[in-house]
Amino acid sequence: MRLASGHVAVQLHGEELAKIQRDFAGFGKGLVRLTPGGWVLPGPFTKYADKIYNTKFRESDVLIMTYPKCGTTWTQEVVWTMRNNPNLDHPRAGAPVNFRSPFIDSDMLMQMSQHENPHTRHFEMLKNIAPDADPNEGIALQLTAHTPDPRTIKTHLPLSLMTPDLLDTAKVVYVARNPKDVVLSFLHHSRLLKGISYVGSLDQYVDYFVKDELIYGPYWEHLREAWPKRDHPNMHFFFYEDMKADPKAEMKKLDQFLGTNLTEEQLDKIIAYTSFEQMKKREEASQWKDADAMIKQEVRKKDGGFFRKGESGSWKGRLTDMQEAKIDIWTKKNTLKLGIKFKYSV
Ligand code: A3P
Repeated sequence: MRLASGHVAVQLHGEELAKIQRDFAGFGKGLVRLTPGGWVLPGPFTKYADKIYNTKFRESDVLIMTYPKCGTTWTQEVVWTMRNNPNLDHPRAGAPVNFRSPFIDSDMLMQMSQHENPHTRHFEMLKNIAPDADPNEGIALQLTAHTPDPRTIKTHLPLSLMTPDLLDTAKVVYVARNPKDVVLSFLHHSRLLKGISYVGSLDQYVDYFVKDELIYGPYWEHLREAWPKRDHPNMHFFFYEDMKADPKAEMKKLDQFLGTNLTEEQLDKIIAYTSFEQMKKREEASQWKDADAMIKQEVRKKDGGFFRKGESGSWKGRLTDMQEAKIDIWTKKNTLKLGIKFKYSV
């Protein structure tokens, strides 16, 4: 199947799909691989791909783009708060971040498994702002369309799957994180979410990662599309590790890029409000009613919820020498031409 982006999508099949579905019990609707790029995405992606690609962005839009587990939610909260809630008094600040800052490509994620559909609260939210909305047209897509300006939108898709004039129109904030922390964070996420239900080992997961077989990958291709654009006036590229090490310095750069003109006092308050501890506390207090439909409580109790560790370098002591070596060899091969350098701890 040819997509509007020019990619050709082919359903995974045979032994490759059977193996993935044994390890990822949630991927009931299959997966597709795109050429060029080798992008691996849930089967329902093809239903939404062209609508996402043809989405017209507005000058006031900010699109947060990341490979999964690189600090997307943190960045959404930081950017949304800087733009909409500088004095921490916005009446809707307590609503889930993906309602205030819509996740444009999440329709496929909500539909990729055979599990109970966890879309209920998104649809309720959509009906509040668009009573006639048709859930079959993509709930997240319509939430994005109906979100009032200025919109802060989230995507895990790479640049090549979004409209080619994106950077001529809107601002993009791209966040990168070192692959060793990413693989452990993604492993936890894949075990925690019923829609993914990963049941394999860490060792196998590292293999999936370095073979570019996890959804939204290849990890390096995602970076390879964004990194050369890092000096574009409408692109702000930063590293999770730098935000962790010095949030004030990073938020000052964001303030300039976004044109939010915040005072030192406002920035200090936002740093505290968006700290890992504060965000985790707010999430734990929120008790959303369909949490059981989305996450495995036994994994949450044992290894933590969405806000797991929030650190740089927690892979140390967790990855074996062999697993680390695999990631190092893969990283070396991929960074030779790219010239990107990660910090592996803070
Ligand atoms: P860990 O699993 O390493 O703890 P994403 O939002 O892209 O899915 O990324 C999730 C990762 O960001 C998780 O990493 C999560 O704990 C971390 N994170 C979320 N909020 C954070 C914050 N305020 N400060 C630091 N890390 C945060």
